Amino acid sequence: MPWVVRDTVDEINRAVGRRWQGIDRLLPLRAELPEGCTAPFVATGANGRPAGLAACRHEHVPPGALNQIWGTAHRFSLIARLREADTSAALDDLLGQWRDHLAGLPGTGADDTAAMISWPARDVSGVTTLLRHGLQPITVIAVRHARPEATAPEAASHVTTGGDGLVIRAAGLADLDAVTELEIGVIRYDALFGAAILRPATEELVRAETRAALAARPAWAWLAERDGEPVGLVHVQPPEQSRWITGMTRSGVTVYLQTMFVRPAERGGGVGAALVRHLHAMLDARGVDTTLLHYAQVNPLSAPFWSRMGYRPLWTGWEVRPAASLR
Ligand SMILES: CC(C)(COP(=O)(O)OP(=O)(O)OC[C@H]1O[C@@H](n2cnc3c(N)ncnc32)[C@H](O)[C@@H]1OP(=O)(O)O)[C@@H](O)C(=O)NCCC(=O)NCCS
Repeated sequence: MPWVVRDTVDEINRAVGRRWQGIDRLLPLRAELPEGCTAPFVATGANGRPAGLAACRHEHVPPGALNQIWGTAHRFSLIARLREADTSAALDDLLGQWRDHLAGLPGTGADDTAAMISWPARDVSGVTTLLRHGLQPITVIAVRHARPEATAPEAASHVTTGGDGLVIRAAGLADLDAVTELEIGVIRYDALFGAAILRPATEELVRAETRAALAARPAWAWLAERDGEPVGLVHVQPPEQSRWITGMTRSGVTVYLQTMFVRPAERGGGVGAALVRHLHAMLDARGVDTTLLHYAQVNPLSAPFWSRMGYRPLWTGWEVRPAASLR
């Protein structure tokens, strides 16, 4: 990257970090622009100074990777850093440059490709511009920040028992079949909204990942059982395995909640809330500050549920498929 641009990058990164803290204090304190596939795109403001920068990054997820379930195989992402409170003009400029760039790349018109951008949920000034370029809001990253007065460690019990024969307990390797089935339940449900894509190897990949996760001690997955039958699951990635996403929020001990699922016949009866209450007691006792999760924007069950459980939107994941259909 030329030296002139590097100075500009540092200055814009600092300005964007300050702007983000003004709109949402759970966004990262620093807004580093990563290296892209070319020099950054630059949007020039009304005063002739750069008003924004963006980098394009390419990710090709191999067929044997579990990550292919959570998006297209070929992902072209724009990381945009915009200095002004009203982002619309600069964002429009950057998206136009990105569209022309993608149109010139081989393969961007193929199936299983997407152009993607993560946008701060509270940065509402960019929304109509994203829509005008053909992007659709597919996913939400929601966040819960634990309160300091949260559950004292000694209050966290390893098993919760409720009325109606409901028991919440840590899952172990002996639960592999039940946990795998519940994990696949949520993938099937999210696939209805475009947030997951079922692949031929999905079941096999999920089973292998579940086996590794259930072998860990302490456990980070909990089952709800009614009269001994598994009816719900919550599964969290421990802090060291959540690093792929922790940069989306402030520093602190952060975990990623990968699965929340209650069997259809049991929904609306308090199983989900009981699982999450148990989970929060465990996370608070383990010193977790922040919990992140994804839900599909148009999943009619998840947004109201997570809101009741103390989570709120932090980022919105916008996409257009195939990548070259960006307008
Ligand atoms: C989301 C899900 C886990 C919720 O579990 P549940 O057992 O049905 O939830 P509960 O009955 O414990 O509800 C807890 C609270 O959320 C509220 N709630 C749950 N779903 C709701 C909905 N769709 N609309 C409005 N409120 C809802 C309940 O009214 C209850 O509020 P209350 O405490 O005021 O009574 C369940 O619907 C599910 O498995 N959905 C399919 C998979 C999925 O969407 N997973 C989340 C993906 S991120």
